[in-house]
Amino acid sequence: MQTSQLKILIIGSGAREHAIAKALHRSPHSPQIFCIGTSKNPGIEKLTTNYLTGDICDTEFVTNAALTWTIDLAIIGPEAPLEKGLADLLWKNNIPTIGPKKNLAQIETSKKFTRDLLKNYEIPGSPVYQTFNTYEGVESFLRRLGDGNYVIKADGLMGGKGVKVAGDHLHSLREAFTYCQELLGLQQTFVIEEKLIGQEFSLLYFCDGNVLIPMPLIQDHKRAFINDEGPNTGGMGSYSDANHSLPFVTEKDLNEAHKINNAMLSALTKEYREKYIGIIYSSFMTTRDGVRLIEYNARFGDPEAMNALAILETDFVEICQAMVTGHLATLPIHFKPLATVCKYSVPEGYPDQPLKNEIIDISSIKNEDELYFGAVEKRNGQLYATGSRAVAVLGVAPTIFDAEKIAETEINKIHGKIFHRSDIGTEHLIAKRIREMQELRQ
Ligand code: AMP
Ligand code: GLY
Repeated sequence: MQTSQLKILIIGSGAREHAIAKALHRSPHSPQIFCIGTSKNPGIEKLTTNYLTGDICDTEFVTNAALTWTIDLAIIGPEAPLEKGLADLLWKNNIPTIGPKKNLAQIETSKKFTRDLLKNYEIPGSPVYQTFNTYEGVESFLRRLGDGNYVIKADGLMGGKGVKVAGDHLHSLREAFTYCQELLGLQQTFVIEEKLIGQEFSLLYFCDGNVLIPMPLIQDHKRAFINDEGPNTGGMGSYSDANHSLPFVTEKDLNEAHKINNAMLSALTKEYREKYIGIIYSSFMTTRDGVRLIEYNARFGDPEAMNALAILETDFVEICQAMVTGHLATLPIHFKPLATVCKYSVPEGYPDQPLKNEIIDISSIKNEDELYFGAVEKRNGQLYATGSRAVAVLGVAPTIFDAEKIAETEINKIHGKIFHRSDIGTEHLIAKRIREMQELRQ
């Protein structure tokens, strides 16, 4: 593959894709960057040669644009186009693509597929679970798991709204039965599984179909409000430590997680005789009895992409080339020994009833290096928050607490009808996580 003036296409237009665009832009190869997104991201736009808006799930539209631009390599940011087979069509048209083909993306697009894959290949790490497409057996299985001890998950992609956890979202067996009926009404297969107790962490990898190369461990914060209260969101912010582990994760936990993921990759490869090329994002719970797999995603996390890519020392373009050519094993990949804290500024009312199209003012932020645009639009020189996670700010420093201070200072310079979680990455919250895990392990 040529290495000068590569043409790289990013599909997607959120903060995660802005982080990808920045990582490409830093490359000594100086690739020409193209984007196709659902909206015009002002941060990505600045870095691109050409930018189209449209339906990113329309695989023909995206592929035709890629062919017209003579794209050398495509990177698919979000999950929805993976489910539609965008990677399949791009590869068919000889465009090497980061992002798995449709069959392999089922590790994210079907919760049943993933649980069954692990079970069929005797891979440990799953909670007790059962899948349903009728109401038969639902009540007895829920009673078997016990009140307050279950999680109900729609099988397919539900935009982050398909999972309901006992105690958090479901407050009685009656509410659980009703939710199952609701899913059946939507023709959704669903999974009921044991509720896991512990601390969550995200473990992402670069994958070329042969090997998994890990990124630093990251912890995301799903809940909307401080102290992990309020509804679940796409992720309010995340942090990573300078040693690339997390203070509540043991070496044994990490080794178990790698083992499960490597076994999953070989099972998946065997199942479809096809290479998984792209990002594997595993989400684990450290429990009293070791790690358990919560789910897989077939893409970078948002906000995890900001944490990982900002401290990536190795050229991201070279990593992408190694992924699509199957040469990851021979490319040493390094991350800087620095901690990161990412915080999202979101519209008031997010996630349930967000204000839409309100002006936000970022003019006090002088250095945009660690600013990532999400659901915003620029109109007549003004920035508008369109309803979802608006702008992310990343702090990078030798310790989590120093990185937190940077992120907090910067995010407070954003003005408008917005809020953020001031507790992410603070000493108080991390001490609480460590304490809770110590109590569980006793
Ligand atoms: P998902 O959409 O699968 O990421 O699930 C959303 C959130 O639900 C996860 O981030 C966890 O916090 C929670 N969750 C999912 N599965 C379980 C489980 N088996 N036990 C406890 N919490 C879970
Ligand atoms: N960090 C949550 C997600 O990307 O799905």
